[in-house]
Amino acid sequence: MRRILVTSALPYANGHIHIGHLVEYLQTDIWVRFQKLRGERAVYICADDTHGTAIMIRARQEGRSCEDVIADMSEAHQRDFADFGIEFDHYGSTNSDANREVCGEIWGAFRREGLVSEKEVEQLFDPEAGTFLADRFVRGECPKCGAADQYGDSCDKCGATYSPADLKNPTSTLSGATPELRSAAHLFVDIEKLHGFLDEWTQNDDHLQPEIANYLKGHFLSGPLRPWDISRPAPYFGFEIPDSPGNYWYVWFDAPIGYVSSTREWCARTGEDFETWWRDGTAEVRHFIGKDIVYFHTLFWPAMLKTAGYNLPRRVQVHGFLTVNGEKMSKSKGTFVLARTYLDHLDPIYLRYYYATKLGTTQDDLDLNLEEFIAKNNADLVGKVVNLASRTARFLKGKSLAATYPEDEGLFAHAAAEGDAIAAAYEACDFNQATRRIMALADRANEFVERAEPWKLKGPDQADALRNVCTIALNLFRQIAVYLTPVLPRLAEQTGALLGKPIASWDEVKEPLLGAEVAKFKAMLQRVDPEKVTAMVASSADGDGKAGAPQTDEAAGDPKGDAASDAPGRPVLEGEELAAECTIDDFVKVDLRVARVVTAEEVPDARKLLKVTLSLGGEPEVTRTVFAGIKKAYEAEKLIGRLVVVVANLKPRKMKFGVSEGMIIASGPGGEDVFILSPDDGAKAGQRVH
Ligand code: 2FM
Ligand code: ZN
Repeated sequence: MRRILVTSALPYANGHIHIGHLVEYLQTDIWVRFQKLRGERAVYICADDTHGTAIMIRARQEGRSCEDVIADMSEAHQRDFADFGIEFDHYGSTNSDANREVCGEIWGAFRREGLVSEKEVEQLFDPEAGTFLADRFVRGECPKCGAADQYGDSCDKCGATYSPADLKNPTSTLSGATPELRSAAHLFVDIEKLHGFLDEWTQNDDHLQPEIANYLKGHFLSGPLRPWDISRPAPYFGFEIPDSPGNYWYVWFDAPIGYVSSTREWCARTGEDFETWWRDGTAEVRHFIGKDIVYFHTLFWPAMLKTAGYNLPRRVQVHGFLTVNGEKMSKSKGTFVLARTYLDHLDPIYLRYYYATKLGTTQDDLDLNLEEFIAKNNADLVGKVVNLASRTARFLKGKSLAATYPEDEGLFAHAAAEGDAIAAAYEACDFNQATRRIMALADRANEFVERAEPWKLKGPDQADALRNVCTIALNLFRQIAVYLTPVLPRLAEQTGALLGKPIASWDEVKEPLLGAEVAKFKAMLQRVDPEKVTAMVASSADGDGKAGAPQTDEAAGDPKGDAASDAPGRPVLEGEELAAECTIDDFVKVDLRVARVVTAEEVPDARKLLKVTLSLGGEPEVTRTVFAGIKKAYEAEKLIGRLVVVVANLKPRKMKFGVSEGMIIASGPGGEDVFILSPDDGAKAGQRVH
């Protein structure tokens, strides 16, 4: 049995989890679940990455302590992960006692090996905020092209990169003050002394994907490695360096150490022997990361582990970024979707499956095409997989599967034999390949059902034939459910409940299930409702699209789109966040009119809807038919004759019951608590509401 310690990058504590982050956590979770299903001993460790300037500033802006901010965020992160079925064995924090201890230990090793030196560094300092400014907290004119309002490290307009001290007319984004150049002592680690080791480690033994190994060779290892600036002067939210008072370990020093310290906490909690996970070389350590943080994990991190005598990673697996509909996630387009917003609208299963079909072994970006997302889930999961069970299980409800496995034209044996190839694909993180093979099995199984036509097998003389066909179909379905377990653990549970035997191991694909009683089939998965996808995008759109402050000192490229989630929160009023600022121009696009209710009637099959005809006056009379979700709050007849306010230029929307040509303005959360707005006496139908 292998012993595998697996990690995902520790998410920053100053932003919520979004669908870009989820690529990695889902990739890792699927890989770990696969290993567990195969009977390997796999442990999934993660933690919140809590330190640095960004958190300190955020806490200040919110008038709270850093500890308070990170505690809330840790809770939110863990809730989001859990709701996506991402199951950690331990979730820690880099602001823990364990982390402080391991940091001290690794630092001691650097000192002992004579790798630490001190050097004065000039940096911009905000005299009002009383803090040194990371590059991204300074804005000014580009020293090269003169473009206004550029970040401290690079220019959006001409692409120049420079030092923040070179910016013209710089201002601090924290206070608006003009920063001053100040000098402070920083501590540096001379990783060039480990150059030989890093050449060796990065280029051999499949530690890295070939493209990554080549990139490191070409970009970093071809010349001397620059000393790593590892300290930040106070004030800084982090751990003070014990032998250098007033200086703190830079967040990127203590962040990866979180992998070790979180494991240590897990060991303390479960009685596991820490030495066997990080020290004695008997466990495989595997990190999953995005391509933005490669050099931290493939140069600094191995250097730290090597110096302090810890296990080196067996593998660092790097994935690409998420794009949505072919573009970078965008707030203005509503494609910067928070995990929570997704969950408010859609089943997490869809994203788990969709990402799995997209994930391969390279660092290519992965595109979430929303049309394809709908089509693929509906075609594959609903149309092929669940359908296989739903259209056969009902014939055996309360009855048993056949006692001996019927002749099935070799289908079961074929699917069992595919197990090795599917497993190899999972192992290699080629989930695209794995899911394609699994869907090919689903196609074969469905073709069998279509040929066998169980729905035509009626009457007592056909009962055995019917049982046989359904026994075959349900066993083929079960094999598919086993293979999909890492991606869709809930489907595995539902399958266990349907056939009275939980799916516990990969090897269950090898032997058919016989004689088991078939339970009543319960819906396993709904089709993706395109309207819900639209609603998710609509509620993610803030109409602004400008990113807020960055997450970290290092976030220059903002590859994960993290920057955008850092804007200070808008107030939440009666449960709804205040929408992003809009201009008068935005507002006047919405043509609000006073209207009189002419007719109102209940829509028989709709729980919430009234069909309302509104008159906006005019010659000839202008009317609008609107389907309004107010049935629970208003009796239709009582509305007739009253004045309301309507969005008169809303694009007509086709609904199940007809076309809705506007929207009646109301407040309240819904259901019985809906309150229609009406103008004061004297207003006339057709008047514009300004
Ligand atoms: O890029 C990020 O989101 C970092 N918070 C990842 C840290 S990974 C590890 F080093 F802790
Ligand atoms: Zn420029």
